[in-house]
This record gives sequence, C-alpha cells and structure tokens, in this order.
Amino acid sequence: MTKDTHIELLQTEDGSHTLYAPLIDETYHSTHGAINESLHVFMRAGFEQTSKEDLRVLEVGFGTGLNAYLTALASVSKTVVHYASVEKYPLPQELWQSVNYPAMYGQDQSLFERLHTSPWNIETKLTPTFYLYKIEGDFSSLFLQEQFDLIFYDAFSPEKQPELWSESIFEKLYIHTKASGILTTYCAKGSVRRAMQHAGYEVERIPGPAGKREMLRAIKR
Ligand SMILES: C[S@@+](CC[C@H](N)C(=O)[O-])C[C@H]1O[C@@H](n2cnc3c(N)ncnc32)[C@H](O)[C@@H]1O
Repeated sequence: MTKDTHIELLQTEDGSHTLYAPLIDETYHSTHGAINESLHVFMRAGFEQTSKEDLRVLEVGFGTGLNAYLTALASVSKTVVHYASVEKYPLPQELWQSVNYPAMYGQDQSLFERLHTSPWNIETKLTPTFYLYKIEGDFSSLFLQEQFDLIFYDAFSPEKQPELWSESIFEKLYIHTKASGILTTYCAKGSVRRAMQHAGYEVERIPGPAGKREMLRAIKR
C-alpha cells in the first residue's frame, strides 16, 4: 500500500461508513458495523475497563480517526485522555471528510475535523479532556518513549500485514504498556494470541463484535 492507493467509501450494516482498500482487499472496519465494532472492541472492552485519571492511550492505525473520535466523546464524562496514534498512510481530506461518524452522533463536523487537521508529531489539546498526538510513521520501526495504560491495536489483519502481528511487535508493545495496562484488538487469531503470550501478556479471548465470535484482550500483570 502507498499513500496514493485508491480507497473507496462503503456503508456498513449499522449505517456507519468504512473505507475499502482494493489493493489489499481490506476494509478499515467490520462490514457488520464500523461504529459497532469500535464501540465493542475499543471502547467497551478497553476504555470502559479503566478507571485511571489522566489516561494514556496508544493507537496503532489512526485511519479514519473513528477510535480517536469515540474516545474524545467519551472522555468528557470520564477522564483526561492523552491519545497517541500512529499512522503510516494518512488519509487525504476528501476521504476523511466523506465518512459519516459525526452525523451518526448528531454532531457537527468541528471536533472530527480538528482530529484530522491538527498537526502531526505535536501533541494538541482538542477539548478540555482530550489531547491528541498523531505520529506519522511506520509502527514497526517506531521508537516509543513512554508507557501507556491502554493500547488500541487496530492494524490491518495479520493475513495482510503479518509484520505488524509478530512476537517482536508485541514485545515492543509490552515494554511500553504500564503495569495493569490493557491491549485490545479485533483480532482473534491463535498465532497472535501466542505471540502476545510469549511477549509477556496475559491474554483472554472474549466475545467479538457482530459477525465475529471472538476477539483478544491482553493485560500486563
Ligand atoms: C484497520 S485500519 C484501522 C484504522 C483506524 N483505527 C480507523 O478506525 O479508521 C488500519 C490502519 O493502519 C494503518 N497502517 C498500516 N500499516 C501501518 C504501519 N506500518 N504503521 C502504522 N499504521 C499503519 C493503515 O493505513 C490504516 O489506517
């Protein structure tokens, strides 16, 4: 995949949009519901399991900004969130502007637009409770400097990007997970679960979002 790859807009079963990358035949979210998947995998199985004040979140794969958007909305009634998100192929404006996430929440575009127009590689305060640090780069070669309470692991699938689901990737993530920190992902693959376990995480298989029997959640004990 490159920055110039052709990408198409799709509507998923819950009415929310996702993007489809024909070159790798992969969607950015579940076609059974993009918002439903993000709420299930990252918000309910991750964000809602933490009770930290000043929560540090790392996302791998900023993409459409959906997970960041849902976290920014949820932070208002919960905690201050410092949200770092890594993206190798930032989307062009015409694509991120075409997704219907703010409309699905009855919101205007302003917060969603600021998620995308805020500068890369500088932490920016977007709301009183949400700070965004977007990092443009390749996660597999990125040097991380801090530890996180919560990791949203949202790379493309292991079939399409095996290099992002290896034991060495999870070893790096483990080092950068705080004690009792959680990593959550839509993936349920056995080889990924074992790679996480070898890296040191305690891993549970929990019910997945619509259309998927299971997903993985890893905890650093
Ligand atoms: C499954 S999509 C999810 C995106 C996002 N979380 C969302 O809700 O739209 C995977 C994302 O990972 C990005 N990506 C692919 N390879 C990457 C890499 N090596 N480092 C960082 N991001 C990468 C893709 O460009 C894409 O935006």
